Amino acid sequence: MSRIAYVNGRYRLHADAVVHVEDRGYQFADGVYEVIAVQRGRLVDEEAHLSRLDRSLAELRIPWPMSRRALRVVVAEVIRRNRILESGLVYMQVTRGVAPRSHVFPPGVASSLVVTARSLPRFDRDAARKGVAVITIPDNRWKRCDIKSVSLLPNVLGKQQAKEAGAFEAWMIDSDGAVTEGTSSNAWIVSGSAELLTRQASSAILNGITRRAVLDIAAEQGCRLVERPFTVGEAKSAAEAFLTSTTSLVKPVVRIDDTTIGDGRIGPLTERLLELYAGHMLAQEVETG
Ligand code: PDD
Repeated sequence: MSRIAYVNGRYRLHADAVVHVEDRGYQFADGVYEVIAVQRGRLVDEEAHLSRLDRSLAELRIPWPMSRRALRVVVAEVIRRNRILESGLVYMQVTRGVAPRSHVFPPGVASSLVVTARSLPRFDRDAARKGVAVITIPDNRWKRCDIKSVSLLPNVLGKQQAKEAGAFEAWMIDSDGAVTEGTSSNAWIVSGSAELLTRQASSAILNGITRRAVLDIAAEQGCRLVERPFTVGEAKSAAEAFLTSTTSLVKPVVRIDDTTIGDGRIGPLTERLLELYAGHMLAQEVETG
């Protein structure tokens, strides 16, 4: 079956889905994006993702390419045309549009919208429980990591470094020696005294939608939640560690650099949060409007 992408008003064969050479996303990384999971054919936390898209666009003063309602229709249509009946991912990207190359905002130019989607294997509980390794690297990104910008060079380089080191993710470290987040995920630990720690939302991290869902779940569970920066030392001596993202869900971290975390397997709180998050993810209501 052919994949279909939405590009600036048209549904096109994926192979023919192209943008102009002077699209500002291509020339300046002048754009933002969202990645939303599909489970049982439904978008996971769609409203939260669209609200974050709204915020990213507003911070960069990029106009919406169409109304929020119309975007929901396009996304639903891309899912339908790609026959994502079970699990998958939707990617949407909005840029400041196509204009002759000049740093200043082009006046009167419509923003560009691309929406793609692909199927993924069905959620596999056993695979999800498997622990991964992370490395630590300096965080050399700009100071507005709260904006989900397509400018991802440090993240790309960090993820490649992780891969070459045989790790799944790189946790980035700020100038105070504290973990900011992963290159495409948020970082969490469970301390020896059973506190659940993740860095507070600020311009130093992307406020993950999965992060927020897990915070809500942990609060409901009566966990001792602390939102603050934690150091690499704290992370390495933690009882448990995990990362969260749309694509990784709640993923156990069992090694940080050369240090094994806990007994090298998924920890009990991580396991509970994964189970509850999977329940949240699979129980999405159809939203209207
Ligand atoms: N990455 N931090 C960064 C830097 C990210 O790129 C992401 C998401 C997250 C987690 O956010 P969320 O829970 O909303 O997915 C944190 C997406 C999935 C990506 O780039 O593919």
